[in-house]
Amino acid sequence: MRRGNVYQIANGYMGYRGTLDEFTSEQLVGITLAGIFDRVGPAWREPVNAPNGGFTSVSLGGAELSALGNKVTRHRQTLRFGNALFERQTSFAFKGTTLTVRSARFLSAETPNLGVIRFSITCSRAATVTVRTGIDGNIWDLNGPHLLGLAATRRDSVLFVEGRTNESSKRVAVAETADIDFGKVTYESRGNRSLRVVHLRAEAGTTYTFHKYFAVFTDNDAVRGSVAEAAIETVLQARSLGYEDCLARHGARWQEKWNRSDVTIEGDDEAQLALRYSILQLLMVAPVKGSANSIPARALSGQVYKGAIFWDTEMFMFPFFIHTYPEKAVELMRYRIKTLDGARRKAKTEGRGYRGAFYAWESQETGDDACTYYNIGDPSTGRALRTYFRDKQVHISGDVAIAMWDYFRLTGDDSLLLEGGAEVILECARFYYSYAYYKDEKRRYEILDVIGPDEYHERVNNNAFTSMVAKETFTIAIATVNHLRRRHPKELRTLLKKLRIEGELPAFRDAARRLFIPGADAKTGIIEQFDGYLGLRESSVKELKARMIHPDEYLGAGQGLAVPTKIIKQADVVMMLNLFRTRFSAEIKRANWEYYEPRTEHGSSLSACAYAMVAAEFGNLDFAYKYFLKTAKIDLEAKYKVYVGSVFMGGSHPAANGGAWMTAVLGFGGVHADEKRVAINPRLCRKWRRLQFHLAYKGDDFRMNITKNSVTVASSRANTRVHAVLVAGKPVKCSPGRPVTVRYRQAR
Ligand code: BGC
Repeated sequence: MRRGNVYQIANGYMGYRGTLDEFTSEQLVGITLAGIFDRVGPAWREPVNAPNGGFTSVSLGGAELSALGNKVTRHRQTLRFGNALFERQTSFAFKGTTLTVRSARFLSAETPNLGVIRFSITCSRAATVTVRTGIDGNIWDLNGPHLLGLAATRRDSVLFVEGRTNESSKRVAVAETADIDFGKVTYESRGNRSLRVVHLRAEAGTTYTFHKYFAVFTDNDAVRGSVAEAAIETVLQARSLGYEDCLARHGARWQEKWNRSDVTIEGDDEAQLALRYSILQLLMVAPVKGSANSIPARALSGQVYKGAIFWDTEMFMFPFFIHTYPEKAVELMRYRIKTLDGARRKAKTEGRGYRGAFYAWESQETGDDACTYYNIGDPSTGRALRTYFRDKQVHISGDVAIAMWDYFRLTGDDSLLLEGGAEVILECARFYYSYAYYKDEKRRYEILDVIGPDEYHERVNNNAFTSMVAKETFTIAIATVNHLRRRHPKELRTLLKKLRIEGELPAFRDAARRLFIPGADAKTGIIEQFDGYLGLRESSVKELKARMIHPDEYLGAGQGLAVPTKIIKQADVVMMLNLFRTRFSAEIKRANWEYYEPRTEHGSSLSACAYAMVAAEFGNLDFAYKYFLKTAKIDLEAKYKVYVGSVFMGGSHPAANGGAWMTAVLGFGGVHADEKRVAINPRLCRKWRRLQFHLAYKGDDFRMNITKNSVTVASSRANTRVHAVLVAGKPVKCSPGRPVTVRYRQAR
């Protein structure tokens, strides 16, 4: 089950868990599709899993072999980072014969609907072997079945399965073909399984190889004819190209991806492996060009968390893409533009009714909130607990606005603002203005009754993180208007008219000035997480865990053990210090890190990287390193809960993957880019002798090479202009094709 996550592959269109060829729904085979959701009865809406076009099983002497059920003398499985290729090799010992299965599979980076597999078998002795290969429609679902009327058919050598989703009757079609030049082929169609059966008298020592191509299309794909025809055509084309050609084209795309996003670390193989794995995960799940899809909290590793998009994307994954792959960052933002109407609907209907855009806490394809009011079950009583994630975790809108603005700031490209980005930003500001409370006696705005990132303390007032994000949204809204006024006055006029918002701009300006943010205590430097936090009971994570009645007990909601205490689920103030890292001194960062860290459960995979980043900022590189490894290894080591109660929680953690990249490049590499320039202030941790990475900035590419005492900035030959880069406080001019090296002394 865990291996299924560790070895998963994906190409933005779909994810394929790293399960073996012969596995079926029972072993949690999942081909999870991006951007298509369905609901069955009252259960959660979740992404749709496609029928498994990758299925192949082998029988020896009439018995079907499975790596889980038979004697296996050797098994090896590999995930190649270079091109996201999954390989397995298994030797089965059965009645005196050793049969070895080898397979390699990839989801094409060139043709997103396509999966390609090479499969071979070798027997130690002559034997009667049957290979069944085709499409297995018996698929794993958490809350399915999602595909109605699944019917299997065949057209010549192409197998085909199609069904329609329950809720919106969208077609999902899978076609599969294979080139098999051995044995005798018959066809078998049972229920929703469509298989090709190869009867073979295998000779001793001969390897029998075939290639298999499957394609998934849904009504979400813009195809000319039917999705069925598109799927069939895609596999036929792939087959005529052949495995090697398909792989070479796929590999070339992957080369491009790594050329832009790789990070190398000298002196620390463990960190290197974990970081590359994290980057691989992000590259695999980045949305397909033109899809306007985003990345769910469990990416494409299954249906966990409803396949929903959270703040995880903007705050933890977006930084990786904006700094290395802006073409992917733009899709993430287009997704928020696409779902703006959903956010407007939510604002109107939530609580007392708000204005503007209140983005979904758990967002699917329309932007309506998939988060339920009773989102967590109490494992002891079976009761659903009221949580306020959906209605009170209002920082989500500001997280979106900040990323939208960053896209413009760091690329210099304002087309996204014109495409709808400016509208998103203004509507988010409008939402906060309608949510804020003006406290007359203090002549300030306050953001009350919210949940910050720490979900164990609900409905709190003046949460520092949330208020800071809201305030920033007002500032960004004004900056957006100012920019458009200068550069695109006509478009601005149209937008202001469309939104009828011009009259509200002075209020946004006022709120940008007078929204209250809890400040640091003059003596201790501590920023109170929310009003009254410092008066809560002291406790420890250990104490709370000892008091738990059930191992999966939830510590928050109404009666949770953490609620009356200072124990927090995840980085909150520290997350704020991370997000607004240039606005706080090292002393404030240190004071708050030291105060909050012992009180943090790190109950979310989002927590460790914030602590890692902030520790790097104030110079405790050992702490930073410890949390960096925790973040970077989360999916490789798969040390997380797989089930909470009866709910499957396993899957990948792309936010932590993004956090690992952020810690390496922004934390240890000390990169800080804003609209004016890139600054680098390296703080390499002890083991790292050299750190090299790429950076995309304002349409140009840079390669950074950092050692303990030098920084080389290589501005790519193809760059268009001279950039001023601030290296360890020293301004340098970087011309295309002329690397500049600056010596520095690492700050203590
Ligand atoms: C965290 C949230 C996060 C969500 C999805 C929760 O456990 O508290 O901050 O957005 O998981 O990763």
